[in-house]
Amino acid sequence: MGVSSALVTGASSGIGAAIAIRLAADGWRVVLAGRDRARLDALAERTGGCAISADLTTAEGLQRVADAGRGVDLLVHSAGAGWAGKFREMRPEHVDQLVELNLTAPIRLTRAVLPPRVAFVASVAVVGVRDEEVYSATKAGLRAFAASLRHSGVRTTAVFPGAVRTPFFRDRDYHRRFPRMVEPEQVADALIDAVLRSRAEVFVPRWLTIADRVHGISPALFHRLADRFG
Ligand SMILES: NC(=O)c1ccc[n+]([C@@H]2O[C@H](COP(=O)([O-])OP(=O)(O)OC[C@H]3O[C@@H](n4cnc5c(N)ncnc54)[C@H](OP(=O)(O)O)[C@@H]3O)[C@@H](O)[C@H]2O)c1
Repeated sequence: MGVSSALVTGASSGIGAAIAIRLAADGWRVVLAGRDRARLDALAERTGGCAISADLTTAEGLQRVADAGRGVDLLVHSAGAGWAGKFREMRPEHVDQLVELNLTAPIRLTRAVLPPRVAFVASVAVVGVRDEEVYSATKAGLRAFAASLRHSGVRTTAVFPGAVRTPFFRDRDYHRRFPRMVEPEQVADALIDAVLRSRAEVFVPRWLTIADRVHGISPALFHRLADRFG
């Protein structure tokens, strides 16, 4: 079998960078998408990959990333941002930015590249998290998109991390007791392992699967427990 290739968004930082490094170490040819030119160039040197700096929330930027990734075997969507706070204080432009980056861009990029395998870095927030209503909605949207694509024959994998030690929390501290923070490499390993096994969904850490199951059976019970245990 020849060398496989992957386009990784959000490769300039955190989980996306860890995924790109692990894929390259496993012999994959990687296309690295992000915005920060210096960090992308450093990663391209380390991985032997090709760097593309572009804003995925602009039509022009998304098109350039799609062109760079044409023909890849795997598309990994890791680019994303969070917003936490009181919903009534969230400005309309923040709503639009979050939906554009976390949900619209992955859908449009998937449509433009149409690869045989697609992996999504979603979040455990798909169950609905207080003060992260819009973020949760974008990640739940990704989950439904991945599941629907899978029905159409595309091999999709969605990963649902809890808290991960990356610059994602740059503007805010992480106060929750559960789940404990994991390293981005743990998420990268879980995602790549799930892609290679064609698994549809994986939670990191694994015990979060139970939270998702409880939520599936009884959302009311889940939210009572979440309020109680923080
Ligand atoms: N960290 C966590 O606790 C956690 C938990 C669950 C899920 N996630 C999800 O994991 C994914 C990766 O997050 P992370 O923790 O690795 O955060 P991160 O270190 O902040 O990385 C975010 C990545 O997204 C890219 N990005 C942001 N805005 C962009 C835009 N407009 N156009 C193109 N790229 C853009 C960033 O590029 P530049 O840096 O070059 O601007 C960066 O590479 C996100 O989808 C996030 O929702 C994170």
